[in-house]
Amino acid sequence: MNFEPTEEQQLIVKTAREFAMGTLAPRAAERDLQGWFPASELRQLGQLGLLGVNVPDELGGAQAGAVAYSLSLTEIAAADASVAVAMAVTNMVAELIVAFGSDEQKRTYVPMLCSGEAVCGAFALSEPQSGSDAAGMRTIATETQDGYRIDGSKLWITSGDRARVLIVWARTDGGAGLRAGGKAASGISAFIVPGDTPGLSAGKPEHKLGLHGSTTVPLTFDGCVVPTSALLGRVGDGFKLAMAALDGGRIGIASQAVGVARAALSAATTYAKERKQFGQALANFQAIQNMLADAATQLDAARLLTLRAAYLKQEGQPYSAKAAMAKLYASEMAGRVCDMALQVHGGYGYTHEFPVERYLRDARVQRIYEGTSEIQRIVIARSLLKEFVDHV
Ligand code: CAA
Repeated sequence: MNFEPTEEQQLIVKTAREFAMGTLAPRAAERDLQGWFPASELRQLGQLGLLGVNVPDELGGAQAGAVAYSLSLTEIAAADASVAVAMAVTNMVAELIVAFGSDEQKRTYVPMLCSGEAVCGAFALSEPQSGSDAAGMRTIATETQDGYRIDGSKLWITSGDRARVLIVWARTDGGAGLRAGGKAASGISAFIVPGDTPGLSAGKPEHKLGLHGSTTVPLTFDGCVVPTSALLGRVGDGFKLAMAALDGGRIGIASQAVGVARAALSAATTYAKERKQFGQALANFQAIQNMLADAATQLDAARLLTLRAAYLKQEGQPYSAKAAMAKLYASEMAGRVCDMALQVHGGYGYTHEFPVERYLRDARVQRIYEGTSEIQRIVIARSLLKEFVDHV
């Protein structure tokens, strides 16, 4: 067992950390307050090779593996979680096309996602009536003479109004699967839809608790026609593609949670050493030390779970349940650690003068998107009940 990152991984982390600290961190609070979408920052990430860390180099990626991807995303999230989520979804879309796309789809879309030319990618799965129950979607893709006509609506789509490349899920069974109850998942297909396709429109961005630099929008598909070549994978395989992508995506959310929590713990530690009460630094009080020690222990546990899941993915081993464990634990840990960091800052922590209130707001959604904590427990329990495997 080797806990030392390879030279290549260290180089990617260094690149990500320098960009995060030098370019992202100084204006993260401003982007949050103004709700600025980080388009130019995403393009710069592309130029640095950070939008396709786990994508083959012949398609414009860095081909550095899933562990390097997780480590780099943590660095970006520690500076600005809004940029990190757009980076993560772009990577997820690029990896999905690499895994299931035709040669033409790979050549057309993956390089523009990796370079930042597409600004970002979007993952259009959730709908007003189907969030956790993703197979219950109602958007329909009807086969026409020369392709498919998509009608329906999506909700909570990260970067949905900015992305030039979207993966869109729709029923290709005419709704029969929904009516038949248990067969809903097999009637779903996935499509690659360019952002400027007529019939696709984005609604008003949601007002959210956190991630103010990331846009989250509803999408409407009104007679949106795509060619047959837009189909990603085979007809009826869409749900499995979504689940496979989310397995990897959940490592991304766990990596983000580790980054935000690390930033919060760092802020709390610095503040505890500087702030004096009762004639001495807060850091001298055992009550504060206990809070910092618990946070550091939980942060490390989350980091190890996350890297183990990334390692299994990189090695081509089953990792679905391990990714769910990492996402579940890391996102819940981030909530606790960010809350602790705010508490250490006292009244100041509740203001915009310090970044900890932003960390707390940004961390909250990590327990919700790409599968709630409750869904992660379902994935873990199902795997456990199917076959109990106890390995490191
Ligand atoms: N990989 C590949 N295939 C999988 C799979 C996986 N991880 N998990 C399930 N499948 C397959 C099953 O084997 C099954 O195939 P067969 O019919 O051939 O046996 C099929 O998919 C259906 O599986 P289930 O019966 O398990 O499906 P289910 O309806 O019970 O759902 C679930 C399972 C785990 C609850 C799933 O619906 C789920 O993960 N829900 C959460 C959805 C989610 O995470 N949404 C996030 C939105 S995207 C987002 O947030 C992105 C963003 O913008 C930030």
